Amino acid sequence: MSALVRSPAWQALAAHQKKIAAANLDALFAADPSRAGRFTIEAGGILVDYSKHRADAETMRLLAALASQAQVPQWIARMFAGDPINNTEGRPALHVALRAREAVFPAGRDVMAEVRGTRERLRRFAGEAQRGALRGASGRAITDVVNIGIGGSDLGPRMLTRALRRFHKPDLRVHFVSNIDPADLDAALTGLAPETTLFIVASKTFTTTETLENAQRAKAWLEAALGSSADLSRHFAAATANIAGAAALGVPQERVFPLWDWVGGRYSVWSAVGLPVALAAGMDAFEELLEGARSMDEHFRTEPLERNIPVVLALIEIWYVNFFGSQTRAVIPYSEDLRELPAYLQQLEMESNGKRVDRDGREVDYDTAPVVWGASGTPSQHSFHQLLHQGTRLVPVDFVVAGESDPSAAQMALAANALAQAAALAFGNPVPGAPHKALPGNRPSSTVLLRRLAPRELGELIAMYEHKVFVEGVIWNLNSFDQWGVEHGKTLARTLAPRLLGSEEATDLDSSTRALLERLRKRD
Ligand code: F6P
Repeated sequence: MSALVRSPAWQALAAHQKKIAAANLDALFAADPSRAGRFTIEAGGILVDYSKHRADAETMRLLAALASQAQVPQWIARMFAGDPINNTEGRPALHVALRAREAVFPAGRDVMAEVRGTRERLRRFAGEAQRGALRGASGRAITDVVNIGIGGSDLGPRMLTRALRRFHKPDLRVHFVSNIDPADLDAALTGLAPETTLFIVASKTFTTTETLENAQRAKAWLEAALGSSADLSRHFAAATANIAGAAALGVPQERVFPLWDWVGGRYSVWSAVGLPVALAAGMDAFEELLEGARSMDEHFRTEPLERNIPVVLALIEIWYVNFFGSQTRAVIPYSEDLRELPAYLQQLEMESNGKRVDRDGREVDYDTAPVVWGASGTPSQHSFHQLLHQGTRLVPVDFVVAGESDPSAAQMALAANALAQAAALAFGNPVPGAPHKALPGNRPSSTVLLRRLAPRELGELIAMYEHKVFVEGVIWNLNSFDQWGVEHGKTLARTLAPRLLGSEEATDLDSSTRALLERLRKRD
């Protein structure tokens, strides 16, 4: 048995779970009239109501004891100090430096000068683009920007660019392409004019096959229209830690915006990888986003464990995963603009903590990251909420709701639906004599309320989830900052691709892969 499972804090929670499992949310609310207020934390523009969880004050005390036992405060200090907490790659995880105001990272080299310098360059570039001063090879102003990237070089900027739709500047449209499926780039390019299109190639490593293939196809598209003698470099920019890689593609030095090995891909939206956000909504909006993340960093660093939003959310996740056996968590933003949030969180949470070996290389004997999934409400209500209300599985939900300064009736109806779903899950609906109609209730959810859907609040929201993931990793004793599990598949695909095109016998492959490969090669 692992030290974690044997530990006093874990064992105390396991014993306590037996009591709580017998209580339901109705009873927990009835027992404490001040529950909603006591189980709500507010920081900046975010309010988290975690009262509709199968937990009481004792649960939260025992969970906080688990966090103390795992030395969460010390780990937070280590991350902010720039310690090489990504142990398998020997690096710090310093995404917090990307939004810090001053140098607070004494353990490594002072990274702030590079961070600030790059941000200034991004500001100049975004400003030029928005003034129409960025011109293509023929001298016409750039009107469309296509971000080519995948994973962390796509999901963050894609999600935030959409979330900030109402802040978009006119005259500059931003598009996203990630899939190696040529249909993705083809669709994005439909209706775009090569003369007025700029490509951002976003890749931390600049070795990712999907991104490099798409970049080459984009180049061919430009060349076919503008001619091989045109200065195609005017149509490219890059965000990367591999400066030489970007140069090899022909991206001019002044258009290569660096990030660094101490920024994980899925934590990189605060770096030059966030350039599409700055282009779409303006650099001031991007800086507001950083400001929001910085205030969540401050909250995370300074608040006690019991009042610390990311810590509390992490503990609640652990409560369900490890003590109730829940396998998934749904994220349901009641906002079309936040529609991409579940996809973004899938990478953040599952690539960070989807691991079965702990920091010391030992196989764990407890569950780690749940499957994170979701879609925007209210369409989700007409799709999978049936299972949430009456199915056999325990699926904790995050409802994410954004306030409005002057809401329309329709926006009020949207928020009303979110609150109604959370209440229906928690308290159910007994229908005597009609079990098929009855909702059992006692189904947990958090409600995350943003003051409004604006850059600052979004920065707070995303930093909140980043830190939640970190705390879970600390307690599960995982390195949340590597992703070795995806490497083997990439290598295999690289070896199979040429064989799909060739004709030699693939006797070394397993019989299933060989048969499928041969079937695809037939092309009839
Ligand atoms: O999917 C694996 C991964 O390495 C992610 O962690 C990363 O965000 C993505 O590929 C893209 O990597 P890059 O930015 O280096 O192209």
